[in-house]
Amino acid sequence: MNKFWSSVVKRTDPYVPGEQMNDPNVIKLNTNENPYPPSPKAVEAIVQTAKGDMQKYPSPTADDLREAIAHVNGLGKENVFVGNGSDEVLAFAFYAFFEEGRTLKFPEVTYSFYPVYSKLFNIPFKAVPMNDDFTIDEEQFYDADAGVIFPNPNAPTSIYMPLDGVERILNNNPDRVVIVDEAYVDFADGPSAATLIDKYPNLLVVQTTSKSRALAGLRVGLALGQPHLIEALVRMKDSFNSYTLDQLALNGATAAFRDVDYFEEKRQLVIETREWAVEELTKRGFTTLSSGANFVFTTNPNIDAEALYNRLRDRKVLIRYFSDPNISEYVRITIGTREQMEAFFRHLDDLLQLKND
Ligand SMILES: Cc1ncc(COP(=O)(O)O)c(C=O)c1O
Repeated sequence: MNKFWSSVVKRTDPYVPGEQMNDPNVIKLNTNENPYPPSPKAVEAIVQTAKGDMQKYPSPTADDLREAIAHVNGLGKENVFVGNGSDEVLAFAFYAFFEEGRTLKFPEVTYSFYPVYSKLFNIPFKAVPMNDDFTIDEEQFYDADAGVIFPNPNAPTSIYMPLDGVERILNNNPDRVVIVDEAYVDFADGPSAATLIDKYPNLLVVQTTSKSRALAGLRVGLALGQPHLIEALVRMKDSFNSYTLDQLALNGATAAFRDVDYFEEKRQLVIETREWAVEELTKRGFTTLSSGANFVFTTNPNIDAEALYNRLRDRKVLIRYFSDPNISEYVRITIGTREQMEAFFRHLDDLLQLKND
């Protein structure tokens, strides 16, 4: 039946999301969700909205939400774009800033949606090999043909690149857009590139409420940049769908951005649990890359990563394994609550014990 498909559909190679098991007994450490619920104020805003004017279209300009995001970042509303998850924001950005037929650069080990968008929009890409320590080989990103995109912290390595490195990449691509995908930046030991926006007309920062604001189910992502970049994204959005965010999402996310205390408290808890979990992994012979995210990327010379993933899965503990040969010795473990992580270590210890018996 493929005769009905357009050439665009035929060339796509869709992204495969991490497994979502509905079983409540599963310890789910595989998709970098926040283990805590969202701000009660966000939940209340969603409930009140649902009881209100749902027969009306939502605001196409999302002014309140953009205002709240701008406030948190010390920017103006004109610096903010919002979309249905950062995945959608990224899709618009690929279409808006990278040309068909010009080569885009991103790291070889990175978020696996980038090649998907590249194929969809016919943008050739170069996946730049990593340094031996899995940091980004900065100079390889200078003078890019179409532009540059990389996550900071990178996924799934979890490594945060200090902003002086980001600035060198920006300075060496003055006529190309550099997208810094900051899905995890709130867990990093360093600032967001949003602090550089006034200085760089070629910088687009993409963030999400799915991780640090615990709203993966609401689907709210955002981009920060100078107004000419934001305008390009708005033009893309309004050529697809003026209402990418429903009113529940708009009001819920606005309340989440205003509830700074709740955000801070939960962010710190995740960071503390991460530091503890890294120590526990080290005690068991794992080497863990320095993490600026709500997950860790770890390896153990005596344990086969794929087997570990499978044995944990048998016990209803989900972590992530990637078969890419560059990283097939590693597993990615999302940081859960302290209780979830203690349960994870009990299962891990059982498995290590069984292996040694
Ligand atoms: C690096 C990176 N960017 C973007 C996203 C997409 O986030 P969302 O679409 O939930 O905002 C993810 C999700 O895991 C990610 O890891």
